[in-house]
Amino acid sequence: MTQTVFEPWNDPNEKPLIQFRGVTKRFGDFTAIDNQTFDIFEREFFALLGPSGCGKTTMMRMLAGFETPTEGTILLAGQDIAPIPPNKRAVNMMFQSYALFPHLSVWDNIAFGLKRDGMARDAIGDRVAEMLKLTRLEKFARRKPHQISGGQRQRVALARSLAKAPKLLLLDEPLGALDAKLRQDTQFELMDIQEKTGTTFVIVTHDQEEAMTVASRVAVMDHGQIIQADTPARIYETPNSVYVADFIGDVTIIEGTATRDGAGYRIDFAEGQPALYAETDIALTDGQRAYLAIRPEKVSITAEKPEDKRNALRGKILDIAYLGNLSTYHVELPKGQIVRAQTANTRRLSRRSFTWEDEVWLSWTDTAAVLLER
Ligand SMILES: Nc1ncnc2c1ncn2[C@@H]1O[C@H](COP(=O)(O)OP(=O)(O)OP(=O)(O)O)[C@@H](O)[C@H]1O
Ligand SMILES: [Mg+2]
Repeated sequence: MTQTVFEPWNDPNEKPLIQFRGVTKRFGDFTAIDNQTFDIFEREFFALLGPSGCGKTTMMRMLAGFETPTEGTILLAGQDIAPIPPNKRAVNMMFQSYALFPHLSVWDNIAFGLKRDGMARDAIGDRVAEMLKLTRLEKFARRKPHQISGGQRQRVALARSLAKAPKLLLLDEPLGALDAKLRQDTQFELMDIQEKTGTTFVIVTHDQEEAMTVASRVAVMDHGQIIQADTPARIYETPNSVYVADFIGDVTIIEGTATRDGAGYRIDFAEGQPALYAETDIALTDGQRAYLAIRPEKVSITAEKPEDKRNALRGKILDIAYLGNLSTYHVELPKGQIVRAQTANTRRLSRRSFTWEDEVWLSWTDTAAVLLER
């Protein structure tokens, strides 16, 4: 099976569906969105991720037309959306609370917007049937919202949001109310539906794993700004800052001074500790402060000093977190820094090779850590 890579953001001929151009949103003297310029492309599944209050919902409400930018322009398919009222935009927003009508059946909930738009009876019937099939709700068409499960209600809300075939669907914490297992299933369903309908999705989630699972690109936000917007793999493997490295997944950050060394830099981080080495594309000046970000799964933990790697530190095991498939070791260096190392538990009832207080060696290759300026 051949599959072309979906990376419209790398194609200069591709026209973005959504363009933010210097968009700022202020509430009084508080800046909720701070001069943001970025694009979202057709058929993207774009995830907004960031701490509470960083501006995710505000970003969506501006797209939906419930808020207007204080400065800047938002274009949808090349057209400034400022003069277009919310109900005339090819945009639909699905709220966390779903807001289903409790007295209407599943069928009528999905048909609601179509009826209001004056669509012909037969066409409504066809469209609702199509939506019920898409979201696998055919059997529940006659039930009321209180007669179905949380996951099913979530699918009704989704069916209702998709019924009018919006170009853009905004999902603000759509899976927040679901338990972990159902949430995972629903994530895959959501991806499937997105692919089938070709709708562009912008999703807000506080769950980084969810963002990584569903999204074509993840935008990591802080204080009204997108710090990095990139594919899940690049966000994880090549974060552009300590903030992003730390926000996504588990990481150890070691702060030190950089000195040019071959294809990268030597990092001196503590008196009496060996220097660390990292290859990188970024350019630093000798003596500059820099941060090494190392993912725990890239750190080997051994009893003997490794012969083949020059990044090798000795430490003592402080804590072990057993996570079933993985174990994470928290290892304390002589100066008190904690480095995390992770091993996969591939054997059932694996003998624990290390335990608390054990003196161990931590090591990684020159390409395993990411060197960051900020
Ligand atoms: N109508 C408003 N008036 C004043 N301040 C507002 C208004 N709406 C949002 N804010 C502020 O703007 C900031 C961003 O809010 P927003 O709702 O976009 O955050 P969020 O990223 O969605 O957070 P959460 O994850 O908690 O939902 C917050 O500090 C919030 O208090
Ligand atoms: Mg919000």
